Amino acid sequence: MRSHYCGLIGAGDVGRTVVLCGWADARRDHGGVVFVDLRDHEGIVQVVADPDRADVFAIASKVGYEDCLRVTGTVRERSNINEKIPTGRFEIVADAIELLNTARDLPFALHENPNEEMRLKYRYLDLRRPHMQKVMRARIKLVQALRRWLDARGFQDIETPILTKATPEGARDYLVPSRVHAGQFYALPQSPQLFKQLLMIAGFDRYYQIARCFRDEDLRADRQPEFTQLDMEFAFVEERDVQDTVEAMIRDVFREAAGIELADPFPRMTWLEAMTRYGSDKPDLRIDLELTDIGDAVRHLDFKVFAEPANDADGRVVALCVPGGHELSRKQLDAYAAHAAKFGARGLAWLKLEDAAKGLDGVNSPVAKFLDEATLASILERTGARDGDALLFGAGKWKTVSEFMGALRLKVARDRGLVGEGWKPLWVTDFPMFEYDEAERRHVALHHPFTAPKVDDAAALVADPAHAVSRGYDMVLNGAEIGGGSIRIHRPEMQSAVFRLLGIGEGEARAKFGFLLDALKFGAPPHGGIAFGIDRLAMLASGTEAIRDVIAFPKTTSAQDLMTDAPSPIDDRQLAELHVRVQKAE
Ligand code: AMO
Ligand code: AMP
Repeated sequence: MRSHYCGLIGAGDVGRTVVLCGWADARRDHGGVVFVDLRDHEGIVQVVADPDRADVFAIASKVGYEDCLRVTGTVRERSNINEKIPTGRFEIVADAIELLNTARDLPFALHENPNEEMRLKYRYLDLRRPHMQKVMRARIKLVQALRRWLDARGFQDIETPILTKATPEGARDYLVPSRVHAGQFYALPQSPQLFKQLLMIAGFDRYYQIARCFRDEDLRADRQPEFTQLDMEFAFVEERDVQDTVEAMIRDVFREAAGIELADPFPRMTWLEAMTRYGSDKPDLRIDLELTDIGDAVRHLDFKVFAEPANDADGRVVALCVPGGHELSRKQLDAYAAHAAKFGARGLAWLKLEDAAKGLDGVNSPVAKFLDEATLASILERTGARDGDALLFGAGKWKTVSEFMGALRLKVARDRGLVGEGWKPLWVTDFPMFEYDEAERRHVALHHPFTAPKVDDAAALVADPAHAVSRGYDMVLNGAEIGGGSIRIHRPEMQSAVFRLLGIGEGEARAKFGFLLDALKFGAPPHGGIAFGIDRLAMLASGTEAIRDVIAFPKTTSAQDLMTDAPSPIDDRQLAELHVRVQKAE
């Protein structure tokens, strides 16, 4: 149908007859000459219709925005060069214009910034926009580079089931009712975790898959209910074997696919250090701000908000120094308190330092009355605060304080332009094995229940689960968790012990994971792996802020597909076939 792509017309084509296909990006009528910008996936080229070709001219004059066209013409050099587009030195003098299809009543103009709902409802039009084409292509390039890298190193690409049994990764499952087995359900995989472990037991040695995962969880800017992982597993490895390999992969692929140079080696940090210094298990190291513990300095105060957590082994009192923060208005400070409250803070004390030389007379703070000169001096020394800075204080339970102050650190840095340029990857290691869920009153796995503890002996783990450290690791880039993995449990006794600690009884463990417990009995090799969030990698590599932009057909934050209208009701006959009865929502 065509001989060339619009966006690739170049000097070598001058004088040639070409046949192009694409969409009318714009039409300009200039005193007797009609110009049509013809766009395909490679870019735009200008088409000219002269009035001396009456038939062509007549069609060109009626071309509508986004009409689908086929143009035959001769390439020539343009008199008024357009520096903004790569084909800007050339144009096509049309010999024929064929209207392949009209575009009628477009819901939005592609050049304008359509609202999110319209973009999702008419996703195919949204995707026509050059920006979206660029972002999607960046993703494609990234995935190609990853595959090339892995294929060259002997990783085996193996597909695992979508209709399967629940694989817990901490979210709710999407379920599919069985027609053949009344009252029974498949679960869509939250990840291929168990299958990839079984592939190692099966002797495949190194596996990868670009795998779709399904998680029914609260959605955010960087979370979708179905998303794509680069899933990997290795047999006969320890942490560094996995980490060194995938770190080299990410470095090579970012360089090749996005021209981004990452540090070699990536810095490493334990979970405890990350939480202590940054209040986050995925610290954004582009931000220099750090949390400073001041518990020791405020322990003796007659101010319960600080003194109580300062004297509690599970408490924490920290300060965050905001450079130049004395200019913060009451309203801004209240907004910070409200932000911290979303992450569990009960209050947010602050102190503006006007003149350190004057001691308490030189500060402005609602908590100044609780401080003494020596305590103030000690706080200022620890935080390195200078005249004109402000301190924000968090006090309470260790985990809560770390989290809300970590969230505040991010907000303050974004608001005040303190997020540095560039690329800051790191490894976070030594996660706790378990987290205590106050609401459910039980331990939950911080990674997933198949992650090995550092201790080799099940009895030692059972004796002190609260302090157990796991062999899990996360790769973080600019404050986003781009990958997570671990060395796995490969002995059935340890797996059973972890299930028991998680409150999964013998019977439930057999029913849910009997196949895994069996497989571990038959000479399972030590193994481990990792999974990267492809969508998140694509977001970072293409510089977009929303995960929806790097997914061709994404869902809204309420897990709907506005284009197809999924989810949607199904008819009674189908429900009956599936042995499902729907309880009408109140
Ligand atoms: P994890 O749950 O950490 O580990 O997931 C791995 C990576 O997948 C990405 N990710 C998501 N991306 C978009 N939307 C989501 N809802 C979403 N959830 C996770 C993140 C994350 O780092 N089976 C283990 C891996 C392993 O142990 O090998 C797993 O799934 O970038
Ligand atoms: P109160 O004694 O509750 O009036 O609090 C006195 C000051 O301490 C106020 O500025 C509060 O915002 C602050 N504050 C209260 N609780 C906390 C907390 N958990 N962490 C930090 N500051 C707090």
